[in-house]
Amino acid sequence: MHKFLKVYMGKIILTGDRPTGRLHLGHFVGSLGRRVELQNSGEFEKIFIMIADAQALTDNADNPEKVRQNIIEVALDYLSCGIDPTKSTIFIQSMVPELCELSFYYMNLVTVSRLQRNPTVKTEIQMRNFETSIPVGFFTYPISQAADITAFKATTVPVGEDQEPMIEQTREIVRKFNSVYGDTLVEPEILLPDNSACLRLPGTDGKAKMSKSLNNCIYLSDTAEDVRKRVMSMFTDPNHLRVEDPGKVEGNTVFTYLDAFCRPEHFAAYWPDYANLDEVKEHYRRGGLGDVKVKKFLNSILQEMLEPIRARRKEFEKDIPMVYDILKKGCDEARAVAAATLEDVRRSMRINYFEDKELIEEQARRFRGE
Ligand code: TRP
Repeated sequence: MHKFLKVYMGKIILTGDRPTGRLHLGHFVGSLGRRVELQNSGEFEKIFIMIADAQALTDNADNPEKVRQNIIEVALDYLSCGIDPTKSTIFIQSMVPELCELSFYYMNLVTVSRLQRNPTVKTEIQMRNFETSIPVGFFTYPISQAADITAFKATTVPVGEDQEPMIEQTREIVRKFNSVYGDTLVEPEILLPDNSACLRLPGTDGKAKMSKSLNNCIYLSDTAEDVRKRVMSMFTDPNHLRVEDPGKVEGNTVFTYLDAFCRPEHFAAYWPDYANLDEVKEHYRRGGLGDVKVKKFLNSILQEMLEPIRARRKEFEKDIPMVYDILKKGCDEARAVAAATLEDVRRSMRINYFEDKELIEEQARRFRGE
Protein backbone atom coordinates (compact mmCIF):
# COMPACT_ATOMS: atom_id res chain seq x y z
CA MET A 1 0.00 0.00 0.00
CA HIS A 2 1.02 3.56 -0.52
CA LYS A 3 2.20 5.23 2.62
CA PHE A 4 0.26 8.46 2.22
CA LEU A 5 -2.81 7.05 0.65
CA LYS A 6 -6.13 7.05 2.38
CA VAL A 7 -8.79 4.60 1.28
CA TYR A 8 -11.83 6.66 0.36
CA MET A 9 -15.22 5.39 1.44
CA GLY A 10 -17.53 8.21 0.39
CA LYS A 11 -18.61 9.53 -2.98
CA ILE A 12 -15.87 10.57 -5.37
CA ILE A 13 -16.10 12.90 -8.34
CA LEU A 14 -13.95 12.81 -11.42
CA THR A 15 -14.53 15.16 -14.32
CA GLY A 16 -12.54 17.20 -16.75
CA ASP A 17 -12.15 19.23 -19.91
CA ARG A 18 -10.00 19.12 -23.01
CA PRO A 19 -7.65 22.11 -23.00
CA THR A 20 -8.29 23.33 -26.53
CA GLY A 21 -9.41 26.83 -25.66
CA ARG A 22 -10.55 29.11 -22.89
CA LEU A 23 -13.76 27.96 -21.21
CA HIS A 24 -17.04 29.60 -22.16
CA LEU A 25 -20.56 30.00 -20.82
CA GLY A 26 -21.52 26.61 -22.25
CA HIS A 27 -18.92 25.01 -20.00
CA PHE A 28 -20.08 27.14 -17.10
CA VAL A 29 -23.74 26.08 -17.23
CA GLY A 30 -23.01 22.57 -18.43
CA SER A 31 -20.42 21.71 -15.83
CA LEU A 32 -18.21 24.32 -14.22
CA GLY A 33 -20.81 26.15 -12.13
CA ARG A 34 -22.20 22.84 -10.98
CA ARG A 35 -18.77 21.58 -9.97
CA VAL A 36 -18.28 24.54 -7.70
CA GLU A 37 -21.65 23.84 -6.07
CA LEU A 38 -20.79 20.17 -5.68
CA GLN A 39 -17.41 21.06 -4.26
CA ASN A 40 -18.98 23.32 -1.68
CA SER A 41 -21.83 20.93 -0.85
CA GLY A 42 -19.52 18.82 1.29
CA GLU A 43 -21.27 15.73 -0.08
CA PHE A 44 -18.17 14.36 -1.75
CA GLU A 45 -15.16 12.92 -0.10
CA LYS A 46 -12.85 13.66 -3.01
CA ILE A 47 -13.12 15.73 -6.17
CA PHE A 48 -10.70 15.29 -9.06
CA ILE A 49 -10.78 17.74 -11.93
CA MET A 50 -8.65 16.75 -14.87
CA ILE A 51 -7.24 18.86 -17.65
CA ALA A 52 -7.47 16.25 -20.40
CA ASP A 53 -4.43 17.18 -22.49
CA ALA A 54 -3.83 13.63 -23.74
CA GLN A 55 -7.42 13.39 -24.93
CA ALA A 56 -7.08 16.81 -26.57
CA LEU A 57 -4.10 15.49 -28.50
CA THR A 58 -6.18 12.66 -29.99
CA ASP A 59 -7.58 15.13 -32.50
CA ASN A 60 -4.84 17.76 -32.31
CA ALA A 61 -1.79 15.62 -32.99
CA ASP A 62 -0.40 18.26 -35.34
CA ASN A 63 -0.95 21.08 -32.89
CA PRO A 64 0.48 20.21 -29.48
CA GLU A 65 1.27 23.88 -28.92
CA LYS A 66 -2.44 24.70 -28.82
CA VAL A 67 -2.95 22.13 -26.09
CA ARG A 68 0.15 23.28 -24.22
CA GLN A 69 -0.94 26.92 -24.23
CA ASN A 70 -4.45 26.17 -23.11
CA ILE A 71 -3.64 24.11 -20.01
CA ILE A 72 -2.98 27.27 -18.02
CA GLU A 73 -6.05 29.00 -19.51
CA VAL A 74 -8.28 26.18 -18.34
CA ALA A 75 -6.60 26.10 -14.93
CA LEU A 76 -7.20 29.86 -14.59
CA ASP A 77 -10.82 29.43 -15.62
CA TYR A 78 -11.29 26.73 -12.96
CA LEU A 79 -9.72 28.80 -10.22
CA SER A 80 -11.54 31.97 -11.16
CA CYS A 81 -14.90 30.17 -11.13
CA GLY A 82 -14.28 29.06 -7.57
CA ILE A 83 -12.69 25.64 -7.84
CA ASP A 84 -10.68 25.65 -4.64
CA PRO A 85 -7.45 23.63 -4.75
CA THR A 86 -7.70 22.94 -1.03
CA LYS A 87 -11.02 21.17 -1.67
CA SER A 88 -10.59 19.81 -5.20
CA THR A 89 -7.59 18.21 -6.87
CA ILE A 90 -6.82 19.76 -10.25
CA PHE A 91 -4.40 17.75 -12.38
CA ILE A 92 -3.09 17.24 -15.92
CA GLN A 93 -4.00 13.94 -17.56
CA SER A 94 -0.67 13.16 -19.24
CA MET A 95 1.18 13.64 -15.97
CA VAL A 96 -0.54 10.48 -14.72
CA PRO A 97 0.93 7.78 -16.99
CA GLU A 98 -0.88 5.05 -15.03
CA LEU A 99 -3.94 6.04 -17.06
CA CYS A 100 -2.26 4.74 -20.24
CA GLU A 101 -1.59 1.37 -18.70
CA LEU A 102 -5.18 1.03 -17.55
CA SER A 103 -6.41 1.98 -21.03
CA PHE A 104 -4.20 -0.68 -22.54
CA TYR A 105 -5.82 -3.43 -20.49
CA TYR A 106 -9.34 -2.06 -21.03
CA MET A 107 -8.81 -2.12 -24.80
CA ASN A 108 -9.07 -5.90 -24.65
CA LEU A 109 -12.54 -5.65 -23.18
CA VAL A 110 -14.07 -3.49 -25.92
CA THR A 111 -14.86 -4.36 -29.54
CA VAL A 112 -14.30 -2.15 -32.56
CA SER A 113 -17.97 -2.34 -33.44
CA ARG A 114 -18.92 -1.15 -29.96
CA LEU A 115 -16.69 1.89 -30.38
CA GLN A 116 -18.17 2.56 -33.81
CA ARG A 117 -21.62 2.82 -32.25
CA ASN A 118 -20.67 5.65 -29.87
CA PRO A 119 -22.91 8.53 -31.05
CA THR A 120 -20.69 11.30 -29.67
CA VAL A 121 -17.61 9.90 -31.37
CA LYS A 122 -19.62 9.50 -34.59
CA THR A 123 -20.61 13.17 -34.57
CA GLU A 124 -17.09 14.25 -33.75
CA ILE A 125 -15.68 12.17 -36.61
CA GLN A 126 -18.03 13.95 -39.02
CA MET A 127 -17.23 17.38 -37.60
CA ARG A 128 -13.51 16.78 -38.05
CA ASN A 129 -13.78 15.19 -41.52
CA PHE A 130 -12.09 12.11 -40.12
CA GLU A 131 -14.40 9.71 -42.02
CA THR A 132 -11.68 8.25 -44.21
CA SER A 133 -8.78 8.43 -41.79
CA ILE A 134 -9.66 8.24 -38.14
CA PRO A 135 -6.63 8.38 -35.84
CA VAL A 136 -6.64 5.23 -33.70
CA GLY A 137 -6.05 7.29 -30.58
CA PHE A 138 -9.12 9.38 -31.31
CA PHE A 139 -11.24 6.33 -32.08
CA THR A 140 -10.33 4.76 -28.76
CA TYR A 141 -10.61 7.82 -26.53
CA PRO A 142 -13.78 6.53 -24.87
CA ILE A 143 -11.63 3.71 -23.49
CA SER A 144 -9.06 6.12 -22.17
CA GLN A 145 -11.89 8.11 -20.64
CA ALA A 146 -12.98 4.95 -18.83
CA ALA A 147 -9.45 4.76 -17.45
CA ASP A 148 -9.65 8.41 -16.30
CA ILE A 149 -12.83 7.70 -14.38
CA THR A 150 -12.04 4.31 -12.92
CA ALA A 151 -8.47 5.16 -11.90
CA PHE A 152 -9.96 7.38 -9.22
CA LYS A 153 -12.75 4.94 -8.33
CA ALA A 154 -15.12 7.78 -9.16
CA THR A 155 -18.74 7.21 -8.19
CA THR A 156 -20.01 10.37 -9.83
CA VAL A 157 -19.14 12.07 -13.12
CA PRO A 158 -20.75 15.49 -13.55
CA VAL A 159 -20.73 16.24 -17.29
CA GLY A 160 -22.94 17.48 -20.10
CA GLU A 161 -25.30 15.15 -21.93
CA ASP A 162 -22.89 14.72 -24.86
CA GLN A 163 -20.72 12.70 -22.47
CA GLU A 164 -23.45 10.19 -21.70
CA PRO A 165 -22.13 7.59 -24.20
CA MET A 166 -18.69 7.78 -22.55
CA ILE A 167 -20.09 7.05 -19.12
CA GLU A 168 -22.18 4.19 -20.50
CA GLN A 169 -19.07 2.79 -22.16
CA THR A 170 -17.18 3.12 -18.87
CA ARG A 171 -19.90 1.25 -17.01
CA GLU A 172 -19.72 -1.57 -19.54
CA ILE A 173 -15.96 -1.80 -19.17
CA VAL A 174 -16.28 -1.88 -15.38
CA ARG A 175 -18.89 -4.66 -15.50
CA LYS A 176 -16.82 -6.64 -17.96
CA PHE A 177 -13.62 -6.19 -15.97
CA ASN A 178 -15.27 -7.14 -12.69
CA SER A 179 -16.94 -10.20 -14.19
CA VAL A 180 -13.72 -11.46 -15.79
CA TYR A 181 -11.22 -10.61 -13.05
CA GLY A 182 -13.33 -10.20 -9.92
CA ASP A 183 -14.74 -7.13 -8.19
CA THR A 184 -12.17 -4.37 -8.55
CA LEU A 185 -13.54 -1.30 -10.29
CA VAL A 186 -16.33 1.07 -9.32
CA GLU A 187 -19.25 1.64 -11.70
CA PRO A 188 -19.72 5.40 -12.00
CA GLU A 189 -22.90 7.39 -12.40
CA ILE A 190 -23.37 10.38 -14.65
CA LEU A 191 -24.65 13.56 -13.03
CA LEU A 192 -26.38 15.73 -15.63
CA PRO A 193 -27.06 19.45 -15.21
CA ASP A 194 -30.41 19.94 -13.47
CA ASN A 195 -31.76 22.88 -15.47
CA SER A 196 -32.89 21.54 -18.86
CA ALA A 197 -31.86 24.79 -20.58
CA CYS A 198 -28.34 23.94 -19.44
CA LEU A 199 -28.21 20.53 -21.03
CA ARG A 200 -26.72 22.22 -24.01
CA LEU A 201 -26.41 25.97 -24.24
CA PRO A 202 -26.61 27.08 -27.89
CA GLY A 203 -24.06 29.43 -29.40
CA THR A 204 -24.89 33.14 -29.61
CA ASP A 205 -25.81 32.53 -33.28
CA GLY A 206 -28.46 30.00 -32.26
CA LYS A 207 -26.41 27.03 -33.52
CA ALA A 208 -26.57 23.88 -31.41
CA LYS A 209 -23.42 24.42 -29.41
CA MET A 210 -20.85 27.03 -28.47
CA SER A 211 -17.69 26.30 -30.35
CA LYS A 212 -14.57 28.25 -31.02
CA SER A 213 -14.56 27.39 -34.71
CA LEU A 214 -18.10 28.76 -35.10
CA ASN A 215 -17.09 31.99 -33.34
CA ASN A 216 -20.31 31.97 -31.31
CA CYS A 217 -18.96 31.83 -27.76
CA ILE A 218 -19.06 34.03 -24.73
CA TYR A 219 -15.86 33.25 -22.84
CA LEU A 220 -15.60 33.47 -19.07
CA SER A 221 -12.54 35.65 -19.53
CA ASP A 222 -14.10 37.99 -22.13
CA THR A 223 -14.10 41.68 -21.22
CA ALA A 224 -17.39 43.32 -20.20
CA GLU A 225 -17.46 45.07 -23.57
CA ASP A 226 -16.92 41.80 -25.51
CA VAL A 227 -19.79 40.21 -23.61
CA ARG A 228 -22.07 43.15 -24.26
CA LYS A 229 -21.34 43.09 -28.00
CA ARG A 230 -21.97 39.36 -28.18
CA VAL A 231 -25.28 39.69 -26.39
CA MET A 232 -26.46 42.63 -28.47
CA SER A 233 -25.77 40.70 -31.69
CA MET A 234 -27.38 37.47 -30.53
CA PHE A 235 -29.69 35.43 -32.69
CA THR A 236 -33.38 35.94 -31.78
CA ASP A 237 -36.52 35.35 -33.81
CA PRO A 238 -35.71 36.19 -37.45
CA ASN A 239 -39.39 37.01 -38.11
CA HIS A 240 -39.63 39.48 -35.25
CA LEU A 241 -38.80 42.45 -37.44
CA ARG A 242 -40.71 45.31 -35.84
CA VAL A 243 -41.28 45.81 -32.12
CA GLU A 244 -45.06 45.50 -32.61
CA ASP A 245 -44.72 42.09 -34.29
CA PRO A 246 -45.48 39.00 -32.24
CA GLY A 247 -42.27 37.16 -31.41
CA LYS A 248 -41.29 33.57 -30.90
CA VAL A 249 -39.67 32.49 -27.66
CA GLU A 250 -38.93 28.89 -28.64
CA GLY A 251 -35.61 28.62 -30.45
CA ASN A 252 -34.91 32.24 -29.56
CA THR A 253 -31.40 32.18 -28.16
CA VAL A 254 -31.85 35.18 -25.88
CA PHE A 255 -34.72 33.41 -24.15
CA THR A 256 -32.82 30.14 -23.98
CA TYR A 257 -30.07 32.02 -22.14
CA LEU A 258 -32.61 33.67 -19.86
CA ASP A 259 -34.02 30.24 -19.04
CA ALA A 260 -30.51 29.21 -18.05
CA PHE A 261 -29.37 32.30 -16.13
CA CYS A 262 -32.32 34.40 -15.02
CA ARG A 263 -33.39 34.25 -11.38
CA PRO A 264 -36.41 35.96 -9.77
CA GLU A 265 -34.27 38.58 -7.99
CA HIS A 266 -32.92 39.84 -11.33
CA PHE A 267 -36.25 41.53 -12.06
CA ALA A 268 -36.17 43.80 -9.04
CA ALA A 269 -32.52 44.63 -9.76
CA TYR A 270 -32.62 45.18 -13.53
CA TRP A 271 -36.15 45.13 -14.92
CA PRO A 272 -38.82 46.04 -12.39
CA ASP A 273 -41.43 46.39 -15.18
CA TYR A 274 -41.88 42.62 -15.03
CA ALA A 275 -42.33 40.25 -12.11
CA ASN A 276 -40.93 37.16 -13.73
CA LEU A 277 -39.72 35.58 -16.95
CA ASP A 278 -43.15 34.26 -17.89
CA GLU A 279 -44.46 37.82 -18.04
CA VAL A 280 -41.63 38.85 -20.32
CA LYS A 281 -42.21 35.87 -22.60
CA GLU A 282 -45.92 36.57 -22.67
CA HIS A 283 -45.34 40.21 -23.73
CA TYR A 284 -42.78 39.17 -26.35
CA ARG A 285 -45.17 36.63 -27.85
CA ARG A 286 -48.00 39.18 -27.92
CA GLY A 287 -45.84 41.77 -29.65
CA GLY A 288 -44.69 45.17 -28.49
CA LEU A 289 -41.50 44.11 -26.77
CA GLY A 290 -38.29 44.75 -28.68
CA ASP A 291 -35.23 42.50 -28.77
CA VAL A 292 -32.93 45.25 -27.52
CA LYS A 293 -34.70 45.49 -24.17
CA VAL A 294 -34.56 41.76 -23.63
CA LYS A 295 -30.91 41.67 -24.63
CA LYS A 296 -30.04 44.49 -22.24
CA PHE A 297 -31.65 42.53 -19.42
CA LEU A 298 -29.69 39.42 -20.33
CA ASN A 299 -26.51 41.49 -20.53
CA SER A 300 -27.04 42.81 -16.98
CA ILE A 301 -27.52 39.30 -15.69
CA LEU A 302 -24.43 37.95 -17.42
CA GLN A 303 -22.28 40.87 -16.34
CA GLU A 304 -23.31 40.38 -12.72
CA MET A 305 -22.33 36.73 -12.95
CA LEU A 306 -19.10 37.17 -14.89
CA GLU A 307 -17.63 40.21 -13.14
CA PRO A 308 -16.42 38.40 -9.99
CA ILE A 309 -15.00 35.59 -12.16
CA ARG A 310 -13.04 38.12 -14.23
CA ALA A 311 -11.77 39.83 -11.09
CA ARG A 312 -10.53 36.57 -9.55
CA ARG A 313 -8.84 35.61 -12.81
CA LYS A 314 -6.90 38.87 -12.81
CA GLU A 315 -5.59 38.01 -9.34
CA PHE A 316 -4.43 34.51 -10.31
CA GLU A 317 -2.87 35.85 -13.52
CA LYS A 318 -0.50 37.86 -11.32
CA ASP A 319 1.09 34.68 -10.00
CA ILE A 320 1.30 32.11 -12.80
CA PRO A 321 4.12 30.09 -11.18
CA MET A 322 1.82 29.55 -8.20
CA VAL A 323 -0.88 28.20 -10.53
CA TYR A 324 1.61 25.71 -12.00
CA ASP A 325 2.52 24.76 -8.46
CA ILE A 326 -1.14 24.01 -7.70
CA LEU A 327 -1.22 21.79 -10.80
CA LYS A 328 1.99 20.02 -9.80
CA LYS A 329 0.65 19.19 -6.34
CA GLY A 330 -2.61 18.00 -7.90
CA CYS A 331 -0.70 15.74 -10.32
CA ASP A 332 1.33 14.19 -7.50
CA GLU A 333 -1.79 13.38 -5.55
CA ALA A 334 -3.71 12.10 -8.57
CA ARG A 335 -0.78 9.92 -9.54
CA ALA A 336 -0.65 8.24 -6.14
CA VAL A 337 -4.37 7.43 -6.30
CA ALA A 338 -4.16 6.10 -9.88
CA ALA A 339 -1.11 4.00 -8.99
CA ALA A 340 -3.00 2.37 -6.12
CA THR A 341 -5.89 1.47 -8.46
CA LEU A 342 -3.45 0.12 -11.01
CA GLU A 343 -1.99 -2.13 -8.32
CA ASP A 344 -5.50 -3.45 -7.59
CA VAL A 345 -6.05 -4.00 -11.31
CA ARG A 346 -2.78 -5.88 -11.78
CA ARG A 347 -3.49 -7.98 -8.72
CA SER A 348 -6.98 -8.87 -10.00
CA MET A 349 -5.59 -9.72 -13.44
CA ARG A 350 -2.85 -11.71 -11.73
CA ILE A 351 -0.14 -9.91 -13.64
CA ASN A 352 1.55 -8.60 -10.50
CA TYR A 353 4.21 -11.28 -10.95
CA PHE A 354 6.79 -10.22 -8.40
CA GLU A 355 4.31 -9.50 -5.62
CA ASP A 356 2.67 -12.88 -6.13
CA LYS A 357 4.63 -15.20 -3.81
CA GLU A 358 2.21 -18.04 -4.52
CA LEU A 359 2.91 -17.85 -8.23
CA ILE A 360 6.64 -18.13 -7.71
CA GLU A 361 6.28 -21.13 -5.39
CA GLU A 362 3.73 -22.74 -7.69
CA GLN A 363 6.06 -22.46 -10.68
CA ALA A 364 8.97 -23.72 -8.64
CA ARG A 365 6.95 -26.80 -7.64
CA ARG A 366 5.84 -27.35 -11.22
CA PHE A 367 9.37 -27.33 -12.53
CA ARG A 368 10.51 -29.66 -9.74
CA GLY A 369 7.87 -32.01 -11.08
CA GLU A 370 5.77 -31.94 -7.90
N1 TRP B 1 -14.42 14.16 -22.92
C1 TRP B 1 -14.46 15.27 -22.04
C2 TRP B 1 -14.70 16.53 -22.88
O1 TRP B 1 -14.58 16.48 -24.07
C3 TRP B 1 -13.17 15.45 -21.26
C4 TRP B 1 -12.84 14.27 -20.40
C5 TRP B 1 -11.77 13.44 -20.53
C6 TRP B 1 -13.60 13.80 -19.29
N2 TRP B 1 -11.80 12.49 -19.59
C7 TRP B 1 -12.89 12.66 -18.81
C8 TRP B 1 -14.80 14.18 -18.68
C9 TRP B 1 -13.37 11.92 -17.74
C10 TRP B 1 -15.27 13.44 -17.59
C11 TRP B 1 -14.55 12.29 -17.13
O2 TRP B 1 -14.98 17.57 -22.33
